[in-house]
Amino acid sequence: MDKENLKAEIRRMCKEKNAVVMAHYYTLSDVQDVADFVGDSLALARKAAETDADIIVMCGVHFMAETCKLLSPEKKVIVPDMNAGCSLADSCPADELRRWKESHPGYTIVQYVNTTAATKALTDVVVTSGNAKKVIDQLPSDAKILFGPDYNLGSYINSVTGRNMELWNGGCHVHERFTESAIDSLKTEYPDAIVMAHLECKAAVLDKADVKGSTADMIKYAKANPGKRYIVATEAGIMHELKRTCPSTEFIPVPVEGSCNECENMKLSTLEKIYSALKNESPEVSVPADIAVDAVKPIRRMLELS
Ligand code: 13P
Ligand code: SF4
Repeated sequence: MDKENLKAEIRRMCKEKNAVVMAHYYTLSDVQDVADFVGDSLALARKAAETDADIIVMCGVHFMAETCKLLSPEKKVIVPDMNAGCSLADSCPADELRRWKESHPGYTIVQYVNTTAATKALTDVVVTSGNAKKVIDQLPSDAKILFGPDYNLGSYINSVTGRNMELWNGGCHVHERFTESAIDSLKTEYPDAIVMAHLECKAAVLDKADVKGSTADMIKYAKANPGKRYIVATEAGIMHELKRTCPSTEFIPVPVEGSCNECENMKLSTLEKIYSALKNESPEVSVPADIAVDAVKPIRRMLELS
């Protein structure tokens, strides 16, 4: 089947099965185009909580589908590819978090949404890049906090909240590739450009950025300030939404040495796999009940506080 027929079949099956396709901004352009809803981690979580569809096809990475399932346990959550993992989520396995927690009694556990359900089950409150400051600002000022797994996000939040959270040493293999020297080179070439960087980037990169935030924060800023030139330090998939919503604006992706600025996990969702997942209603994401009961609580707390 060609691309247009695949898209038409996906839309037809969505109608027939009362299904919705949700996609992250890093997925392939065709996937974003066929989706009912495209968003950042926070918006996808919110949408999962409120949709009345019977089936959710989550195009992104595995923790996003788990979050969906935790918030909508009565719905069937399917994914185009079960292998879509996340290096950040992998950097903090639940048993290691448990040991860290046990060695810090009395600490509040704050975890980035890029974690497994088993890790979330040990957590007091979840945050995303889009709401981390807002949520953490609402915790008691004298709270002792363990924050993980993203070291760069945690350092940034410490710097803007004046907190002294203890940080897990995890990171995203895509965002850690961006360097300050690559930004300096682009700034020399385009001195008027505004630099945007995702909060998963290293502090030295964030220091160079005029706009720092989640994927949705960057898109919102560019929409509010069109017709300019932006240097963009995040995963390349965001270019599709930036160009779609700001056609008169120039976006320059920050190159990374030796490889590309793409998250290979996000690119595992393809039109063919969405079609097959919808047709077979599989592979289906499940979270064991004993984990789900605790893992949903810090996500709900995040949604209340943000
Ligand atoms: P956002 O919450 O900004 O969408 O980020 C998710 C992510 O995985 C970034 O690497
Ligand atoms: Fe995970 Fe990094 Fe991919 Fe985001 S870009 S899903 S943090 S591996």
